[in-house]
Amino acid sequence: MAPQIYKGLKDVYLDTTTASFIDGQEGKLLYRGYNIHDLAEKSTFEEVVYLLLNGKLPTRRELSSFDATLRANRRIPDEVIQVLDLVKASHPMDALRTGISALSAFDPDVNDNSPEATLRKGIRLTAMGPTLVAAHHRLRQGLEPVAPNADLNHAGNFLYMLFGEMPDEETVKLLDVDFILHAEHGANASAFGARVTASTLSDLHSAVVTGVGVLKGPWHGGAAEEVMKMAEDIGQPENAEEYCRKILESGGRIMGFGHRVYKAEDPRARHLRERSKALGEKVGQPKWFQILTYVEENVMVPYRKKGIFVNVDFFAGSIYYLLGIPDDLFIPIFALGRIPGWTLQCLEQYKDNILIRPLLEYTGPMDLQYVPISQRR
Ligand code: SDX
Repeated sequence: MAPQIYKGLKDVYLDTTTASFIDGQEGKLLYRGYNIHDLAEKSTFEEVVYLLLNGKLPTRRELSSFDATLRANRRIPDEVIQVLDLVKASHPMDALRTGISALSAFDPDVNDNSPEATLRKGIRLTAMGPTLVAAHHRLRQGLEPVAPNADLNHAGNFLYMLFGEMPDEETVKLLDVDFILHAEHGANASAFGARVTASTLSDLHSAVVTGVGVLKGPWHGGAAEEVMKMAEDIGQPENAEEYCRKILESGGRIMGFGHRVYKAEDPRARHLRERSKALGEKVGQPKWFQILTYVEENVMVPYRKKGIFVNVDFFAGSIYYLLGIPDDLFIPIFALGRIPGWTLQCLEQYKDNILIRPLLEYTGPMDLQYVPISQRR
């Protein structure tokens, strides 16, 4: 009898997890049992990273010590900066993937998959990720990288290294919330890839490199960059209807919409929708939010009955754009937020490991006769 094929592993449970809970019908997301709405509005990225990696909210003392560890691990070796300079013409996601690989050459724990070493490496990669992205961005502009500033929090330091100037508090808070919203999301494609890597007992750097490679795709992390490109092509709200119709009628997809699990609004989207509106008004560029809102509230309404709503990526791009961040940095920002999630997924995989190796049903010819090349016509 033909086997049951689960194309795309749709609705297939791989394992159990205590990292995050996602209710796709309700549009509900919990990190380690805490609602994403509480974490987005009341927590910080540093606290959320601690929660994800340690399984509980930190005391004030624990958070202070953890934050100090992150701040102390932001510097990257000069050799890695040289590598980034060699690939300065690359897309920032390719540079991030390359930079993480290069970091493995300088990590004393690289081949130690113990929980303790994996945790140390995950913290280091979370701390160094922003330095990789910012250094590459400076190098590709012919500028010197800006050294990390231990006086600034995670989000603030990233902006400082990226632009070479002290960021304002509101912008830092915006990016902090964005990192929180992107930190963990179950067996998404990039986390699944990281788990497959860990399941062969390969190391965390290799698993995170896998995650970056998978996240780059426009059907996963790459959507935010595509959404902003779409908004720029649309140009004005009144053009949105016609522009999207053409895409949809030709069988294309509106990026930032739809989700493998959410069949209601992605709970993360509201935190970015509000901020995109406020930021657009603050900087005198309300039209991007107006364009996106027109797409969401007019063009895509009929798709809701198919369970297609906005996802986390739809408004994220407009926020980055309004902050003056180049659109090819949108996916790397998603990746920086997700490093703790990938680390946690690998910790879980190592803890109760089994090689992840599904099957493919062979439908080709069987037992063919080998014909020597002299007899082939
Ligand atoms: C992320 O998994 C995660 O958790 C990911 C993520 C995370 O935090 O890690 O949440 C982050 O990746 C968010 C998703 C970002 N990607 C995009 O916005 C790209 C656009 N979205 C799609 O390509 C799509 O929605 C997927 C790939 C995200 C999910 O698609 P599925 O679940 O595989 O569903 P499908 O491709 O089988 O589509 C089902 C139907 C199809 O129509 P029919 O053939 O049945 O007529 O829905 C349609 C699709 O054409 N559809 C869309 C659509 N998404 C699905 N139609 C128009 N626009 C869209 N965006």
